[in-house]
Amino acid sequence: MTLLEGSVGVEDLVLLEPLEQGSLLKNLQQRYEHKEIYTYIGNVLISVNPYQQLPIYGPEFIAKYRDYTFYELQPHIYALANVAYQSLRDRDRDQCILITGESGAGKTEASKLVMSYVAAVCGKGEQVNSVKEQLLQSNPVLEAFGNAKTIRNNNSSRFGKYMDIEFDFKGSPLGGVITNYLLEKSRVVKQLEGERNFHIFYQLLAGAEADLLKALKLERETRCYVYLNRKVSRVDGMDDASNFKAVQSAMAVIGFSEEEIQQVLEVTALVLKLGNVELADEFQANGVSASGIRDGRGIQEIGEMMGLNSEELEKALCSRTMKTAKENVVTALNVVQAQYARDALAKNIYSRLFNWIVNRINESIKVGTGEKKKVMGVLDIYGFEILEDNSFEQFVINYCNEKLQQVFIEMTLKEEQEEYEREGIPWTKVDYSDNGVICNLIEHNQRGILAMLDEECLRPGVVSDTTFLAKLNHLFSKHTHYESKVTQNAQRQYDHTMGLSSFRICHYAGKVTYNVNGFIDKNNDLLFRDLSQVMWKARHPLLQSLFPEGDPKQASLKRPPTAGAQFKSSVAILMKNLYSKNPNYIRCIKPNEHQQRGQFSSELVAIQTRYLGLLENVRVRRAGYAYRQGYRPFLERYRLLSRSTWPRWNGGDREGVEKVVGELSLSSEELAFGKTKIFIRSPKTLFHLEERRRLRLQQLATLIQKTYRGWRCRTHYRLMRKSQILISAWFRGNMQKKRYGKIKASSLLIQAFVRGWKVMGKGGGASSPPMGPCPTWFLPDCASCWEERAAESESCPPPGPPGVRGHVHVCVGFWVCRCVSGSVDARRGDVCLCPGCVSDLATEFCLLLGGPCSLPTRLPLLSPSRTVSALYLTVFSVWVRNRTPSRSGFGLLCLTVYLYVGSFLVCPCQARKDYRKYFRSGAALTLANFIYKSITRKFLLGLKDNLPSTNILDKTWPAAPYKCFHTANQELRQLFYRWKCKKFRDRLSLKQVENLREKLCASELFKDKKASYPQRLRLEFFS
Ligand SMILES: Nc1ncnc2c1ncn2[C@@H]1O[C@H](COP(=O)(O)OP(=O)(O)OP(=O)(O)O)[C@@H](O)[C@H]1O
Ligand SMILES: [Mg+2]
Repeated sequence: MTLLEGSVGVEDLVLLEPLEQGSLLKNLQQRYEHKEIYTYIGNVLISVNPYQQLPIYGPEFIAKYRDYTFYELQPHIYALANVAYQSLRDRDRDQCILITGESGAGKTEASKLVMSYVAAVCGKGEQVNSVKEQLLQSNPVLEAFGNAKTIRNNNSSRFGKYMDIEFDFKGSPLGGVITNYLLEKSRVVKQLEGERNFHIFYQLLAGAEADLLKALKLERETRCYVYLNRKVSRVDGMDDASNFKAVQSAMAVIGFSEEEIQQVLEVTALVLKLGNVELADEFQANGVSASGIRDGRGIQEIGEMMGLNSEELEKALCSRTMKTAKENVVTALNVVQAQYARDALAKNIYSRLFNWIVNRINESIKVGTGEKKKVMGVLDIYGFEILEDNSFEQFVINYCNEKLQQVFIEMTLKEEQEEYEREGIPWTKVDYSDNGVICNLIEHNQRGILAMLDEECLRPGVVSDTTFLAKLNHLFSKHTHYESKVTQNAQRQYDHTMGLSSFRICHYAGKVTYNVNGFIDKNNDLLFRDLSQVMWKARHPLLQSLFPEGDPKQASLKRPPTAGAQFKSSVAILMKNLYSKNPNYIRCIKPNEHQQRGQFSSELVAIQTRYLGLLENVRVRRAGYAYRQGYRPFLERYRLLSRSTWPRWNGGDREGVEKVVGELSLSSEELAFGKTKIFIRSPKTLFHLEERRRLRLQQLATLIQKTYRGWRCRTHYRLMRKSQILISAWFRGNMQKKRYGKIKASSLLIQAFVRGWKVMGKGGGASSPPMGPCPTWFLPDCASCWEERAAESESCPPPGPPGVRGHVHVCVGFWVCRCVSGSVDARRGDVCLCPGCVSDLATEFCLLLGGPCSLPTRLPLLSPSRTVSALYLTVFSVWVRNRTPSRSGFGLLCLTVYLYVGSFLVCPCQARKDYRKYFRSGAALTLANFIYKSITRKFLLGLKDNLPSTNILDKTWPAAPYKCFHTANQELRQLFYRWKCKKFRDRLSLKQVENLREKLCASELFKDKKASYPQRLRLEFFS
């Protein structure tokens, strides 16, 4: 806190001791001498013009002030701009910055500093930067056309400017609106000693390229132009030529087209050239004085530039058309009247051009409708003026300043004190000078000076400035703030400073004597209709657009509002605008009259501090409270600072506020509870609250972030978990499905085996004799043999008695049935045919079939399936070789096939062993093979049971149940038939054989000759 430590004097006058004018001045002077030009009175900033560039501005300082609160750093205009901007951005309150002070006190500079600060701290981006540029670049253009050198200020604003900068909800500038007030247009044609015309004329002449000057038909020398004061053409420290370039580029940045810039310069040149139009006396035949233009070349050039016939222009300048009910009467103007008309035209052209420029800038920077805006208004209006000869212009300027002072009084002094009373806050009244009565004197609708002036202007009959003054003298003879020679005389006062044509008003800033001469004319602000009509006829597009009333279609007999009335209404609008916003005051003070650095004139500053009411301001501020707010908005803003009120508070607003401030343990002296508002005495406390709120907001933001992140992670985790459960459920399901499929396939396989076994006949276990599928003709009487053998050895019944045949039957039957029923595990080899048995079996079969056995007598030990296969192959090859048809042979064939099938039934065991890894994939094939073999077996067994009779004439044969057996069935049929025939032949006796042979021989002889018997033999043939 630098408020007290190491500061020069006191930085806030609220801390001033003793509180009196002398110490206040001394403090300001002390600080000024130490180049501390800014001082506070609470939140009001006092700025003393340093008249030198101090190293306290620029990006570095902007960065410094944007990060600190109002009282944390030395008083600065940036601190005030920062408070206003933050309040606008964060609290959504429209702001206005009221910059007041005398001419030359530094208002315009202050407004530029505020704008540059706001432009630097507000949002960034291409669009935003272009808006900022346009807003900032409006300054040089308006200063060129609206500022001039006066004896008080080398860059004096000769118009009032109020600029509304509009921001979006984020605090980025969107655009703005500029309102201008009453340009001092009289300056166009006349300037006081030591003053200049508007800067643009000098800038144009000094800075324009030769080509441009030629095009504008201008000379470079200022002394060539009557409207430019020939004595003062240059201003120290002002480079007109480079300023002209800056104006041109600023216009381009704002959005003026090249054509528009050219036209603006043409109109400016026209004004200069109009001043050079010399008028001379001319006498009409009737002796009435008239006027004419002396320099024909000048008016010719003007006509060319305007796009007008020079004669027409001359006529409009030197005569006046009066409209009566019946006709138009043209009156010639004398030289004075013509000069007045010329100057009126020049002033009107220039002031309308200025308005056009302001409107054109507004067009560029305007914000689209519909967008919600926050507004910061910056008011830089001409300062209070007390000249030696004060005219109508000073009167309206001072009236405006009076109104601004009223705003200040109303909003800081009066309103504040009234509010304390309203709210029931203990309060000792502080006296202050209220200027309401002065404002009333000027602006009262019926009895104000402006109303009287308007009345005089509109009144029929002889009207002059003198009649106007007489009216004022009559009306305000007893008014405490009005004086004139007449009222002084009435009170027997002698004042040699008061002229006969003057009146004096005791303004808040001092007494100002106004000369009434010219009041009526200036208030009427009349431009002869002839001139406006001729301007409208001009082919110059910009010039023509400046005089819309010249259009005969729009001509109206209605009088336009007077200058005073217009100004009053625009000031009323301005006041309304200011009252609707949160005010921020910058009180500018001029330290000396000579625009000299380091000079501090106590007298001059004392006058200013007195009329600015700084001392009263300090008193009210000291006694009062720096900040107040309704309970509800206060609670809304700060309730997050207390656990009782955050996040929910169900009690009343005031109780809530008490809870919040109670928990923050603020000093009771710092606070006062009104009826509807809480009052906070020092800004420090408010900033403390704001700081606490900022920290708390950070905490809450962290909490929200934390909660959000937690929620996000939890949700994500839940989602992942759900997905994981879903995936594993699907995976497990899939696994189970696969497993089930495997089990099902396996059980089908087992079922198939079991069913196959069942079809073949159910085995009663290892010790039971095979049943069912073992055909009776195959095991005719082996049961007892088998039992014997089984009792001896399960693994390999030895060959030998009861005969090879029985042994074969027993062995094969035993082995096949055991394998098929599964009671013998072939893989384990607990039942196998030893090589000897196999050889014997093969030999036996081969003998049965009547062929030699090809199987070697000493066989290696084979697995049962291979043994059976070998056996089968041996037997089958013998059978094929011999093919001895006999019933036992056929039985053997069936046996062979049976064995073959049996070997296949055994095969799965082998296959499982050899092709375990492929078993699953081969299950379908195995099953298909199994089914195929089953139906083959069924077909063959069924055929055995349904064999037709052995009669050779019986050619019937059971049909094959499936097409695939058709060929095999035919083969079998042939085999059976041959077998039957063989059996039949075997049964025949020799005689029967002989008979049949003869018959056969006869039938061969008579073959195909039976039909010819009746022709050859007449006798009937009897066989
Ligand atoms: N803060 C400042 N730093 C440096 N010079 C300043 C500062 N303020 C004002 N000046 C100087 O004072 C001169 C007058 O200031 P400025 O034009 O702002 O006065 P003003 O109050 O606008 O006067 P007017 O009412 O005539 O327009 C400026 O041209 C500038 O030279
Ligand atoms: Mg200014």
